[in-house]
Amino acid sequence: MRKKIVAGNWKMNTLLKEGMELARAVEKLENEKTSDALVIIAPPYTHLSKVKDMIENVRLSAQNCASEDSGAYTGEVSPAMLVSAGVEYVILGHSERRALFGEDNALLNKKVKLALSEGLKPIFCCGEVLEERESGKHFDIVKEQIEVGLEGLSAADMSQIVIAYEPVWAIGTGVVASPDQAQEMHHEIRGFLASMFDDKVAEDMSILYGGSCKPSNAAELFANPDVDGGLIGGAALKAEDFLGIVNAY
Ligand code: 13P
Repeated sequence: MRKKIVAGNWKMNTLLKEGMELARAVEKLENEKTSDALVIIAPPYTHLSKVKDMIENVRLSAQNCASEDSGAYTGEVSPAMLVSAGVEYVILGHSERRALFGEDNALLNKKVKLALSEGLKPIFCCGEVLEERESGKHFDIVKEQIEVGLEGLSAADMSQIVIAYEPVWAIGTGVVASPDQAQEMHHEIRGFLASMFDDKVAEDMSILYGGSCKPSNAAELFANPDVDGGLIGGAALKAEDFLGIVNAY
């Protein structure tokens, strides 16, 4: 059975002390949660090993990793380094990495494979921009992101992956996808996975929704059969809001 997951992507927010306080607060509330969803936080690189020491039930993710495993790549952080700091998950293919740092589907495929080979679990993001949705290309765009980004993986690899559908027009805008729009795309993604892999891979995949998800709209999104949780940005920066979303299940 697939897992329910709520993951918090802190992006480039919080200084170390604030991040540690936030992690402590999330861990405390996690212990009091009313839902059985797995709770993941993705702080900035600089916070990871300190945060690791402060959490027990909450799981740790990085927001990115290198596409090479070591060497002369100034400024990069390899999957093996993340594992050595106690990190379990890595967000890959976030739209901000795609748009601002030029990461394309082929590079992401390389990162996904390297992360998996080191035992990291990728949270693989996909999603269309507004223009693509308005011109009816959103299914094709997401299909290509998945087909190229997850190309060459085995069913065993896929069991280590989480997919996050994040329509770019909903990220940080306050414009949330409607429950029907989220369900429609998540169902479609499950169909892509069934044809690329098999029905079991599709059925077992946790597919998270991301984009302006808040305690007030989470319940109606999570009520959909193909929505298995959320990848949360702004609302993950306040422990009460973040756990409010977890408890919306
Ligand atoms: P917001 O929740 O701030 O819209 O961000 C979503 C996101 O990008 C999570 O990765």
